[in-house]
Amino acid sequence: MRQDYFSQEVNRKGTLSVKWNPQAIKGITGNEEAEPFWVADMDFLAPEEVVQAAVDTAKSGVYGYPYVEDKEAFISSWLQRRHNWKLARKNVVICPGMLTSIALLTEMLSSEGDGVIVPLPAYQPFLRIVRNLNRTLIPWPMLYNKEAHQFSLDWDTFEELCSRAKLLIFCSPHNPSGMVFSEDELRKVALIAKKHHVAIISDEIHADLTFREHHPLLPLATEVGCTAVTCMAPSKTFNIAGEHFSVSIFSDDKLRLAFMRRLDQLYLGGNSFFSTTLALVAYEKGEPWLKDLIAYLQGNISFMASFFKERLPSLTFIKPEASFIGFIDCADIMGLVEQDALANPQLYDPKKSPNGGLLSRFFGLRAKVALNDGTWFGGDAYRSFVRFNYGTNKERIAAALMRMEDAIKFLEKTYIR
Ligand SMILES: Cc1ncc(COP(=O)(O)O)c(C=O)c1O
Repeated sequence: MRQDYFSQEVNRKGTLSVKWNPQAIKGITGNEEAEPFWVADMDFLAPEEVVQAAVDTAKSGVYGYPYVEDKEAFISSWLQRRHNWKLARKNVVICPGMLTSIALLTEMLSSEGDGVIVPLPAYQPFLRIVRNLNRTLIPWPMLYNKEAHQFSLDWDTFEELCSRAKLLIFCSPHNPSGMVFSEDELRKVALIAKKHHVAIISDEIHADLTFREHHPLLPLATEVGCTAVTCMAPSKTFNIAGEHFSVSIFSDDKLRLAFMRRLDQLYLGGNSFFSTTLALVAYEKGEPWLKDLIAYLQGNISFMASFFKERLPSLTFIKPEASFIGFIDCADIMGLVEQDALANPQLYDPKKSPNGGLLSRFFGLRAKVALNDGTWFGGDAYRSFVRFNYGTNKERIAAALMRMEDAIKFLEKTYIR
């Protein structure tokens, strides 16, 4: 286990990292000194072999156009090893960032004005893609059990929403709740979508980081005759998200060819020298590192779960089943935070943090912890949640949680529930 590798302090301050940029942090918290636990990249060094490949490539000093024979073989081999998914190499199309593919696929699988279903809470760019392309957003709010602190899919509404939609943008595993869907749930999604001729784009960017078995949607959808595309990437898996490289996987040849043609028309087919190098080395050699990463992340989750239970009982950490981001339910302290904001309008001035919300301001200002505000994931319905990125060393997490504890003690001392 690379305990030391993941525990080491990696100084990202002063780099190009958006997560660590003081102005970006201020934009969501109002406090440029808050420590970042937001944007979904991790603070860990990438696998040793990937770092070495980046160093070797950098040292070569020439960064021309890359060419790799049969890149798709690296991906199909990975999918077979990792997800027991056997597929023909021709069904894999290499793309730049995943959002580029999702936007292009949205254009291809729906027309202006058409309804596009997005489960809520949602990774916000999905909502932006729908709006930017002049589609009609059809929100599909997940059910939330306030006692069990669990999200689940709302089957009663899904069928009705499908009758008005052309497309579903699905996220599996789900960001921000951290849910991993079962095979039965995914088959049910595909069956209902198929019944109403709704196509599915399945964003599976977090699929390699699950703590229980992940089922790619595409084979299940194909089995029931539903049009679907699964999008995956090495970016979250190996912490190389800034080097855009992703894959779209098809079973429908006509759709795949049309997609390749669209990439070609827009000259979006070529990945950079660095992104190609890093992605392929990661897929080929990164698996032992990934195994250790998952163990480390699970250790962080256990640590956080006990800390919340023992020392932050007014907050609930919704235990994720995948990846390095988790939702925290703060409903219990909302009244106190509202009083704090009312008493300190200058401090909480939204103009100073236009990209945040009440809770991201509270944690940023009072605990120096920068978190994504729940409203970012679908508006006011999620204002009592924040998303915490625990893809970082345990000592940093412990220090942040202690500051959050102090901030809540301050609220409890100063205001009346
Ligand atoms: C669910 C999901 N999809 C897509 C992305 C971004 O993908 P890319 O940077 O490849 O466009 C993220 C990044 O956080 C994500 O969480």
